[in-house]
Amino acid sequence: MYRQLMSRFATGVAVVLSESGDGPVGLTVNSLTSVSLDPVLLLFCARHSSRTIGPLLAIGRFSVNVLCESQCSISQYFAGQTECRTPIIIERQDGFAWLAESNAVLRCRVYATYAGGDHQIVVGNVVSMHGPALSRPPLLYHEGKYLRVNFNAADVESDTSGYGAFD
Ligand SMILES: Cc1cc2nc3c(=O)[nH]c(=O)nc-3n(C[C@H](O)[C@H](O)[C@H](O)COP(=O)(O)O)c2cc1C
Repeated sequence: MYRQLMSRFATGVAVVLSESGDGPVGLTVNSLTSVSLDPVLLLFCARHSSRTIGPLLAIGRFSVNVLCESQCSISQYFAGQTECRTPIIIERQDGFAWLAESNAVLRCRVYATYAGGDHQIVVGNVVSMHGPALSRPPLLYHEGKYLRVNFNAADVESDTSGYGAFD
C-alpha cells in the first residue's frame, strides 16, 4: 500500500554516477531532493543492497545527472533493467564523471550520510554544476512507468510562493 501510494507522487529521474578505479558506477534514482541553498546541498536515498553506493561513498564524490526524455534507456540501464539502446557518453574532469546531454549536471562531494531504514540517505554538497541554457523535455516517472510531459507548463497557473524557482 505504501509503495503504491507513494508511486503516485510523480517525479523526475536522475542518475547518480561515480568514477571508480574499475570505471563508472551509477544508479537511477527518483529520491532526489534539494536540501539547502547555503551551503548548496541535495540528497538521494539508496537501498543498502545497491552495488553503487559502497564505491560511491568510498570515492566521496559523485555527479547527479537530471535526465531528459531522450535518456530513458540510460535510466533503464542504470536501474539494471536492460542493455542500453543508446550510446552512453560519459564526460570526465577533476575526478568526476557525468552523462553528456543531461538536463542538469550537479557535481557533489559527500557531505553526510544518515541511516534511513533499509536505505541510506546521502547528502551531497554541490561543488559545480552545468546544464543547457534551455531545459530539454524532462523524463518523468509515475506509478512505475516513464512519462513524457504532455502539457505546456505555461498554461498551468503556478504559485512558487516566493521560492524563486527560477533563480
Ligand atoms: C525511475 C527509477 C527510480 C529509482 N529510484 C531509486 C532510488 O531513489 N533509490 C534506490 O536505491 N533505487 C532506486 N531505483 C532502483 C535502482 O536504480 C536499481 O535498484 C539499480 O539496479 C541499483 O543499481 P546498483 O545496485 O548497481 O547500485 C530506481 C529505479 C527506477 C527505474
